[in-house]
Amino acid sequence: MLASVLDTVLDRTVAPGYSRLGYLARSAGWSGPQADPQPGVLAGKVALVTGGGGGLGLATVAGLARLGATVHLVVRDEGRGAAARARVQGAVPAADLRVTRCDVSDLDDVRRAAAGLAEAGPDVLVHNAGVLPPRRTETPQGHELCLATHVLGPHLLTRLLSDALAGRAGRVLWISSGGMYAQKLTFDEPVPYNGTTAYARTKRMQVVLSGLWAARGLDSHAVHPGWADTPGLASSLPGFGRLIGPLLRTAEQGADTAVWLAAARSSDVGTGRFWHDRRPRPEHYVPWTRETPAERDALWSRVEALTS
Ligand SMILES: NC(=O)c1ccc[n+]([C@@H]2O[C@H](COP(=O)([O-])OP(=O)(O)OC[C@H]3O[C@@H](n4cnc5c(N)ncnc54)[C@H](OP(=O)(O)O)[C@@H]3O)[C@@H](O)[C@H]2O)c1
Repeated sequence: MLASVLDTVLDRTVAPGYSRLGYLARSAGWSGPQADPQPGVLAGKVALVTGGGGGLGLATVAGLARLGATVHLVVRDEGRGAAARARVQGAVPAADLRVTRCDVSDLDDVRRAAAGLAEAGPDVLVHNAGVLPPRRTETPQGHELCLATHVLGPHLLTRLLSDALAGRAGRVLWISSGGMYAQKLTFDEPVPYNGTTAYARTKRMQVVLSGLWAARGLDSHAVHPGWADTPGLASSLPGFGRLIGPLLRTAEQGADTAVWLAAARSSDVGTGRFWHDRRPRPEHYVPWTRETPAERDALWSRVEALTS
C-alpha cells in the first residue's frame, strides 16, 4: 500500500518519478506480476525492435536477447546496425541477432522490408525509433518527419505485420514519451514549426493509436521510458541533459518496462494500456488534453488514408 502511494506521488510530481530516483524507488518494490521475467522466458520467440542500433533500442535488444528471444534490429543504417549487433553479442554471447535495414519514416521502405519481417514470425514488435528534429524535415513521401517516424511508418508496419502477429498472439509496444502529457490529440503541425511540440504531439498520437489497435483486437500497449541518458537525448535536448545529468536513467532502466512487457502474461497486463515503470498510468493529467471518441476515430481515418 505504502509502495503504491509512493509510486503515484512519484508519477504525478514528474521530475523525481521520471528520473533514475523514480526507477530505483519503484524497482525496489517489484514482486508478483511486476517481478523480473524468468530467464529464458522468451526462448523460441522473435522480437523486432525499430531503431535497435542505439540508445533505448539497443538496451531493449539486449534485454530481450537476455530473455532468450531472437531479436531483429530494424535499423536505417546497416553499418550502425552491425556494430550494435556486435556489442550485444559481446554482452550476450548466446544471443540470436539479425539486422534488417528499414527507414521507418519512409513508407516505401516500410513496405519493402515488411515481407521479410513478417516471414520472421514476429511475437513482439517494438516501435522504438524516434526523432526530435531541429527544423522541419520532410520524408520522401512529403510527410513531416516526426509524424512519419512515430506514427505513419509504425502504423503501416503494424498493419503489414498484423496477420503474422495475430497468428502468434503477438504484442506491439509503442515507445512514447511523458512529453505527450502536455499535448491534446491533434493532427495539426505546430505553426511556426517547433520540433519539441511536433515530437510531443506525435507521441500523443502513438498512445491513442496503440489504444485504437487494441480496440481492433491487437495486443498493443504504449510505454514511456522516463528520462534516459541516450545519444538522442544528448543531441536533441543538450541543455536538459546537462541540467539533470546524473539523475538521468541509464538506457537499461529506460528500456526496462518495454522488456518486461514483452515477456508479461496477457492475463497480468491486459491490452491497450499506457505503461511506465511496470504499472499502467493515466493517459491524461489535465482535463484539457482529453480527446473525444470522434477525435480518436478521425486519427485512425487520417492515418489509414495516408498509409494506404
Ligand atoms: N531517452 C529518453 O529519455 C526518452 C524519453 C521519452 C521517450 N523516448 C523515446 O524512446 C525512443 C528511443 O529514444 P532514444 O532516446 O534511445 O533515442 P536515440 O538515442 O536517438 O535512438 C533512436 C534510434 O532510432 C533510430 N531511428 C531514428 N529514425 C529512424 C528511422 N526513420 N528508421 C529507423 N530507425 C530510426 C536511430 O537510428 P540512427 O542511429 O540511424 O539515428 C536510433 O538508433 C524514441 O521513440 C524516443 O522518442 C526517449
